[in-house]
Amino acid sequence: MTKLLEVREISKYYVHKDGWMPGKRICALEPLSFDLERGETLAIMGETGSGKSTIAKIIAGAERPSSGELFLNGQALSAMTDQQRCRYVRMIFQDSLRSLNPQITVGQQLTEPLIFNTDWTPEKQKQHVYETLSKVGLLPDHYGFYPHMLSSGQQQRVCIARAIVLEPQIVMADEAFVALDPSIRAQIINLILDLQQDMGISFIFVSHSAEIVKHVSDKILIMHRGSMIEFGTTQALINHPEEQLTKTLLHSEHNYKVPLHSTTKE
Ligand SMILES: Nc1ncnc2c1ncn2[C@@H]1O[C@H](COP(=O)(O)OP(=O)(O)O)[C@@H](O)[C@H]1O
Ligand SMILES: [Mg+2]
Repeated sequence: MTKLLEVREISKYYVHKDGWMPGKRICALEPLSFDLERGETLAIMGETGSGKSTIAKIIAGAERPSSGELFLNGQALSAMTDQQRCRYVRMIFQDSLRSLNPQITVGQQLTEPLIFNTDWTPEKQKQHVYETLSKVGLLPDHYGFYPHMLSSGQQQRVCIARAIVLEPQIVMADEAFVALDPSIRAQIINLILDLQQDMGISFIFVSHSAEIVKHVSDKILIMHRGSMIEFGTTQALINHPEEQLTKTLLHSEHNYKVPLHSTTKE
């Protein structure tokens, strides 16, 4: 069976322009490779500036790698149209709440991806949006609400609904839940675990919280200054970390104490 995601030797350079001086090449990502199976959850950890967001953006197709290739279900990402890629991979951004359009209703925000990416009739689109609202724990009434009428937890649910409305195989979240207060964050993470079970979605998420990472992920990728220094199953990295940084990141307990439900993958 083909793997869901194969990352092969991807690297990323940025050119920093400094006035009239020739651009300085900054290596954001040294060539790295890893695989992800269907339904698996991958956590990416590392210090600020280590390349975590760069990996997330490349997988989501928002940035092109400088070299290397990614395969989704055996198909090269670079050979796909935006429309094809949208149906496979969706991203929940760091400032996801601000990414909601204040001018249009929740129902309209969720219908937009369906208009652009499917040939469904308006009735089918509407029905699918209602089903998606219910999957993320919102009510049919929320269809007509504007974002400002919702609590921050409900707005986050809309962001998740928008990410899953096209039934993707991978959802990426780049530190998307940092701003939420701990009890809402726990609800959102439990919602993601439920969606994963119901829809078989793979999650790739960037997080600093050892507690959340241990609770949610099957595999962990550790970044340090643009290089992948460790990659393995959550259990292996907790029990037999090879790198000091892995130990530090996974055992730091400045983390949030959140009441998560008891499906821990340790
Ligand atoms: N658009 C960009 N232009 C230039 N440099 C960038 C850009 N995006 C990221 N970088 C640089 O690449 C490195 C990795 O950044 P990033 O992937 O955002 O790290 P992280 O998410 O781990 O904090 C950093 O040194 C950052 O300054
Ligand atoms: Mg980042």
